[in-house]
Amino acid sequence: MKRLTGDASSGRAASGFSRREFLRGSGAAAAATALAGASQVAAAEGDERGDGVVRGKVTIVLDVNGAKHEVQAQPRTTLLDVLRNQLNLTGAKPVSADPSSGAATVLIDDKPACAASTLVLQAVGKKIRTVESLGGAKLDAVPAAFTSADAEQCGFCTPGFVVAVRAFLNEHPKATDEQVRSGLNGNICRCGTYANIIRAISIVRGG
Ligand code: FES
Repeated sequence: MKRLTGDASSGRAASGFSRREFLRGSGAAAAATALAGASQVAAAEGDERGDGVVRGKVTIVLDVNGAKHEVQAQPRTTLLDVLRNQLNLTGAKPVSADPSSGAATVLIDDKPACAASTLVLQAVGKKIRTVESLGGAKLDAVPAAFTSADAEQCGFCTPGFVVAVRAFLNEHPKATDEQVRSGLNGNICRCGTYANIIRAISIVRGG
């Protein structure tokens, strides 16, 4: 696939979650981070046996687009699943289970992240922003420029691109086109609208 650049233990944690349970479903790196966030889980209904191992759903509170949402999730549930299927925020797209397409890009504490490969427990206690936060009455300059530059065809990649561009320009407001291409290398447009995406970014930068 073409990119913008052209090439593309069984120990029990203090929280009560079993490290083995997490490792079984999610992988070591994700489990370690999830355990850190698990202390903020509001209730562990899945701990039916009283052994501290959460086997079912838990109730957690997420900070999404400036509002607190109580949701239900299993330890293996992804952030993307909760956003789309519980909060009806369908901008981020389920293209792949890894970050290779960029279609599931959201902001977590102002940093771009792949919601499809982020366990929802990893997002507890953090500020999550989706592409929906850039629309509405206070339309952000990035989606506005995507529209005026006709920077989409099917539009499937667009929400991920818009979020990634917003995050990139926040960090690099004066970036050159070459720096933009390099910085957005993690997002793919199968329709090949890259030239117009670059034009949209140029509009946001003021020409
Ligand atoms: S506009 Fe179709 S994938 Fe980008």
